[in-house]
Order: sequence, then C-alpha cells, then structure tokens
Amino acid sequence: MSATARKKAPNAEDIRARKGSDPLVSLTAYTTPMARLMDAHCDFVLVGDSVGMVLHGLTSTLGVTMEMMIMHGQAVQRGLDTAMMVIDMPFATYEHGPADAFRNAARLMAETGAGAVKLEGGVEMAETIRFLVKRGIPVMAHIGLTPQSINTLGGYKVQGRDEQAETVLADARAVAEAGAFCVVLEKVPQGLANRITDEVAIPTIGIGASAGCDGQILVVDDMLGFFTAFKPKFVKRYADLGPMAEAAIAEYAAEVRARSFPADQHVFSDQAPAKGPKA
Ligand code: KIV
Repeated sequence: MSATARKKAPNAEDIRARKGSDPLVSLTAYTTPMARLMDAHCDFVLVGDSVGMVLHGLTSTLGVTMEMMIMHGQAVQRGLDTAMMVIDMPFATYEHGPADAFRNAARLMAETGAGAVKLEGGVEMAETIRFLVKRGIPVMAHIGLTPQSINTLGGYKVQGRDEQAETVLADARAVAEAGAFCVVLEKVPQGLANRITDEVAIPTIGIGASAGCDGQILVVDDMLGFFTAFKPKFVKRYADLGPMAEAAIAEYAAEVRARSFPADQHVFSDQAPAKGPKA
C-alpha cells in the first residue's frame, strides 16, 4: 500500500463515534512482530498488563511495572501503522489519586506514542478519569472483572450476576459520564452486557461479555493457542500454535542430536563459488 493510500490510525474520538456502528475489533499485543500481523485487522491494539502473565510468567498482573509497559508499548508502536494503540496503566500507578494518575498516564503516552490509556475501575475511578480527560488524556475504562483487584474480588469470577448487576451498571454509567471514550466489559453476563451497551453512550468492548457489545477484544496469545497455562471459557482458540511450536522445537532438537541439521543447504563452502547464489 502506498504511503498516500494508507489508512490513518483512528483516535479516541473516532473510536467513540463507532458507538452502535460496525463492531470494533481489538487484540492485545506486546511485541513488534505480533503488532505488525494484526495492524491491518484491528481498530485498536491494547498493550495489556496481561503481558506480565503471558510473556513474563507472573501469576497475576499485580507485578507489572511502568518500565515493562513502556518497553512493550514502544515495541508495539513500531509495528503499527493503521491501528490505534492503547496502553494499560499498571497496578498502583493511578489508584492513589488523580495527580499521580496524570503523571504516570502522561509518561506512558509520551514515551510510547499511545493514543490513550486504559485503567480498571468504575464509580471509584470516575474522578480520576474526569481529571485525566480534562487534561488531554483519553481514557478507556475497564469494568466487570478487573484483574488488578483479584485479591479483593476473590478470584476470576463472573461479575454482575443477580443483585450485583446494578453495581456493574452504575460503574458503566459513572465511567461514561466521567468522559471515558469507551469501556471494556470483562466477564459480565450476556444480558447485563447488552443492557449496558443499550444504556451508555460510549462503545462497550466485550471480553467474556456478549456479541451485542460494540466491539470485542481477546488476549492474542490465548486466541492463537500460545498461552496454555489455562483457557478461560470466553476464549476461542482460532489456532493452536503453542503445540505446533513445540513440535517444531522437538523436531529441531532431534535433528541436532542426530547430526541431520544443519544439512548441506544450510552450511557454507570453503571456496567462494564462481557465481550463483551467495554461499
Ligand atoms: O491486560 C489485558 O490484556 C486486558 C484485556 C483482557 C482487556 O486488560
């Protein structure tokens, strides 16, 4: 595609304007090559703090740092031309208060080129969201199951069943009123996700929510079958690349041990060939 024909990456207001329109497509990414693969297919790419569990082997997202997010954010940005990049604020970088949140959000955006930050929380984060948005930082909210609060939620449970539905609905209203341009609904029952989508004026992005949401997001290593430690019910494996990669590694190990790799075509001759392909 020529530089002039290239589609421009959407910004937060373009994403907001997609409310009720064709579904928004999103995946997480943590590296340049993966970002390149998804750039043409996604409206926005999230540098999720899931990077801690997916790439760094942590058992939760709580140990993810600003430095990790900045390094992965810079890598992902290098792989994107036409998708917007959103970056997660790590645990304990925004909960203390709006001024702290602003300092860290501004650093994430300035050092990675992200077009927006994402933070977890509903009613209790509304004041911080308002503060950031008023000062030029677009915020994607994340409610329902918020993995950074795993220790107070008591596990990775569905959020918003029965009488808890009103709490999640109140969170959705609060973040929309505070100025978030879109809201992720994680592990929220289908009927409630549809109700929130109908009631709030900003796009809802489902992960374990409903096909009726304004868009969907998945963790890329989950949907490609690279992350096999566990598979949440809401993940569809579109490929099983983990076992394929392991089989390739096992074949390589067997060939090295059998001295059948490298073969003739992988090694260099002692004399320079007269002409032909580089040897
Ligand atoms: O960190 C992440 O990958 C996320 C998605 C699950 C929405 O927040």
